[in-house]
Amino acid sequence: MTENFEPTSLRDLMCGSVDSTMVGERLSVCGWVAKRREHGEHLAFLDLRDHSGIVQAVVDGSVDVRSEYVLRVTGTVSLRPEGTLNDRLATGDVELTDCQVEILSTAEPVPFQIDERTEVDEQVRLKYRYLDVRRDRMQRNLRLRARVNSTLRRAMERQGFCEVETPLLWAPTPEGAREFVVPSRLHPGEFYVLPQSPQIAKQLLMVGGFDRYFQIARCLRDEDLRADRQFEFTQLDVEASFVGQEDIFAFVSEAVLDAAEVATDQRPGPIATMTWAHALDRFGTDKPDLRFDMELHDLSTHFAATAVKAFAAATVKALRVRGGGEFTRSRLDALTDQAKALGAKGLAWFRVTPDGLDSPLARFLSAEETSVVRSVDDAQVGDLVLIVADEYALACKVLGALRLTIGAPPVSEGPHRYVWITEFPLFEGVDDDGNLVSAHHPFTMPHLDDLDLIDTDPLRVRSQSYDLVLNGWELGSGSVRIHRADIQSRIFTALGISDEEAQSRFGFLLGAFKYGAPPHAGFAFGIDRLVAILAGEDNIREVIAFPKTQSGTDLMTSAPKDITERQRRDLRLKFVPKV
Ligand code: AMO
Repeated sequence: MTENFEPTSLRDLMCGSVDSTMVGERLSVCGWVAKRREHGEHLAFLDLRDHSGIVQAVVDGSVDVRSEYVLRVTGTVSLRPEGTLNDRLATGDVELTDCQVEILSTAEPVPFQIDERTEVDEQVRLKYRYLDVRRDRMQRNLRLRARVNSTLRRAMERQGFCEVETPLLWAPTPEGAREFVVPSRLHPGEFYVLPQSPQIAKQLLMVGGFDRYFQIARCLRDEDLRADRQFEFTQLDVEASFVGQEDIFAFVSEAVLDAAEVATDQRPGPIATMTWAHALDRFGTDKPDLRFDMELHDLSTHFAATAVKAFAAATVKALRVRGGGEFTRSRLDALTDQAKALGAKGLAWFRVTPDGLDSPLARFLSAEETSVVRSVDDAQVGDLVLIVADEYALACKVLGALRLTIGAPPVSEGPHRYVWITEFPLFEGVDDDGNLVSAHHPFTMPHLDDLDLIDTDPLRVRSQSYDLVLNGWELGSGSVRIHRADIQSRIFTALGISDEEAQSRFGFLLGAFKYGAPPHAGFAFGIDRLVAILAGEDNIREVIAFPKTQSGTDLMTSAPKDITERQRRDLRLKFVPKV
């Protein structure tokens, strides 16, 4: 990337920009020595690298420079002699000759080669991250991230949104993950909390008349790390007043599709919507990967009166695997183990053969059951049919997971399939104390048609919340918020949050709502996740400059680490030894 380059006092242009239109000009470039090759006794070729590319400099053999030295080279742009052109290099038809070399900095031998070809252990990459980001992959990913950020910012501003920064030293937020706490020196024994998201702050900005707010916001959550999770991550956080769900979809889609276009040079089509209930039923998950078909099929009615014990359950769900008749017994055993680990009692499998169904269970099926299984999803000879019989949600979840194991392409492959998932349940279950648990957060507006169910059948209450899903990853979520005190108080009661607790945790928000809260709705999506998928990376670490390892450490700085005795004293902290 060499756009907007202006010469500086040290260099005239970037290494990757030298070309044959400049032949004869005397120019200075700066960069790192990528490679040195001796040419006879008196000459050496240096490959000089900056982030734009590499240019070859022909220097005197006596010049004492080694790999990763930082140089300023001033030379004459010349065409390479016949037969020495390098078509793998953008600058491969030219070189700098008659060079004057200034060593700006020397370098010790580096722990790994700074090129794309060398596989380097991730621990080593993270320990020397400043060298790792010198390599093309991280340069590409971080620059893509920068382009995505600036595109998102422009899209939000174009739509009338105003960026407001909210505090990092804050009070507990309602996202439900464990929080990072920061001790206060001036108020010993009291703590700030790092925000899991700007959720409450942005709702306060709606009360404050901001109307359309956004922020590229750093969020912090002390949760177990995975490929798509870090302690610190960045959201495009959005909130707007006097809007409904459809308006939020339009604002966010515009920003996401702009970002996708910038990354891939193609604008995806409009984003489809699917209800949560449909997603679960058809794909066994609320984050369906729509890059491939393989939908789940419900056979429950056909097995309502079955004599097969394994299928005597509330729900019988099936999945057809094209060509799965070839699966070995050990692969089927592994799938069965996966199903059991997820809570299923077992996994029934049937190979479709020219002679009928091949399976340990085949002889127990009635003729009608055999024909139903035989034709699941138009199964053909050579296919495999997998069946899980259980309670509805579990059967969906297990087959949904097997669908991914069998069919999901790698992150870097296939089209980008975005989908909005709508009408999530308001509550996701009941905790150990018998209290309902919010599926999103306690400020999510219930579906107005379901208000009466809050007291009678709360798990059936739909919410006005929604997720954006991309290729099986949850990219973001949001909701229409409760702005009416009466509905909010009913929800707090259902969640087992007493008036006192609500006051102590969210009193400032509830207080603000007394002074004129507009109807409002919002959304936030994970920029790390979006960029990872756009970059074809399956771990968000690859799009973060200085990420933590899976176990939450920073191998470069050794954080987290002890603080000084003085700091402990100032903060009045005393450590209790682990017992
Ligand atoms: P939620 O908690 O669903 O919603 O988070 C929104 C999005 O943030 C990203 N995300 C993460 N990315 C990386 N590492 C993590 N640990 C992590 N946790 C979350 C995901 C996720 O979809 N305040 C609400 C939004 C709203 O209602 O407006 C919120 O934060 O991509």
